[in-house]
Amino acid sequence: MDEAIAVEVRDLEVGYGWGGNATRILHGITMDVARGRTVGIVGESGSGKSTLAKALVGLVRPTAGSVKVGGVHVSSARGADRRAMRRKVQMIPQDPYSSLDPRRTIGEALAEAVDPRRAKVTAHRDEIVHWLETVRMPADTIDRYPHECSGGQRQRVAIARGLMIRPEVVIADEITSALDVSVQAEILNLLASLRRELDLTMVFISHNLAVIRHVSDEVVVLYHGDIVEQAPAADLYQRPRHEYTRTLLDSVPGAPGFDIRPRPRKDAS
Ligand SMILES: Nc1ncnc2c1ncn2[C@@H]1O[C@H](COP(=O)(O)OP(=O)(O)OP(=O)(O)O)[C@@H](O)[C@H]1O
Ligand SMILES: [Mg+2]
Repeated sequence: MDEAIAVEVRDLEVGYGWGGNATRILHGITMDVARGRTVGIVGESGSGKSTLAKALVGLVRPTAGSVKVGGVHVSSARGADRRAMRRKVQMIPQDPYSSLDPRRTIGEALAEAVDPRRAKVTAHRDEIVHWLETVRMPADTIDRYPHECSGGQRQRVAIARGLMIRPEVVIADEITSALDVSVQAEILNLLASLRRELDLTMVFISHNLAVIRHVSDEVVVLYHGDIVEQAPAADLYQRPRHEYTRTLLDSVPGAPGFDIRPRPRKDAS
């Protein structure tokens, strides 16, 4: 096992359903995520991005191929290995509104992440405050309830919760798509900073190449369950090689605050 590789995906196939109703969604995905790097995954709706995310966290079983995190197979882990795997791979939820229990304070939600059995805020106060500050939230958020926080603040809490157990890999699947555009930019800027500060290893999924660009070292383009292009981010935006990638670049919505297209279109006439 190469120590520099956090996630190793080999010939991954995933399908849903059985027998005559079975549909194959991922058709042999092979990719690595190096430690300390972020791989962005982009593709249109239905291309299989969330299915890949679920395979990475062990929520769907591959029909063929393998996913290893830190050298351990994700889907075959059992018992204690499986619990350890749950902590190694953290998924940041997409929806900041349904991801937090409305009856528990932010402090309680975060205490539970550190210690699921003894979720006492008092025992973990310093650590919780540290992580709230890490995601640029005031310390007194600890006593607030989710309904007292905005969508963007809740998403920061969800990020803190995903990061505070120091997972080997963070999976972020469309974590800004439920937010207003201005708040999206805030969350992306935060992630872009945290990625460096905490040396995160991340799989960052979005249907929007402008969003992906903001936080990715490498980009994987998914089309109908196949990888059609995989390149360092700078190369992909400067010189997209696959026709589909060009289509995606052309359809990037103009999100304020993002440098979306670095080059003038050569073929514009
Ligand atoms: N549990 C399921 N059972 C059957 N089919 C499913 C299931 N989940 C997803 N699919 C199908 O798998 C395909 C890929 O879905 P997936 O959610 O991975 O796409 P996606 O790229 O994440 O799309 P989006 O951008 O809309 O989130 C779609 O055709 C979807 O209908
Ligand atoms: Mg999805």
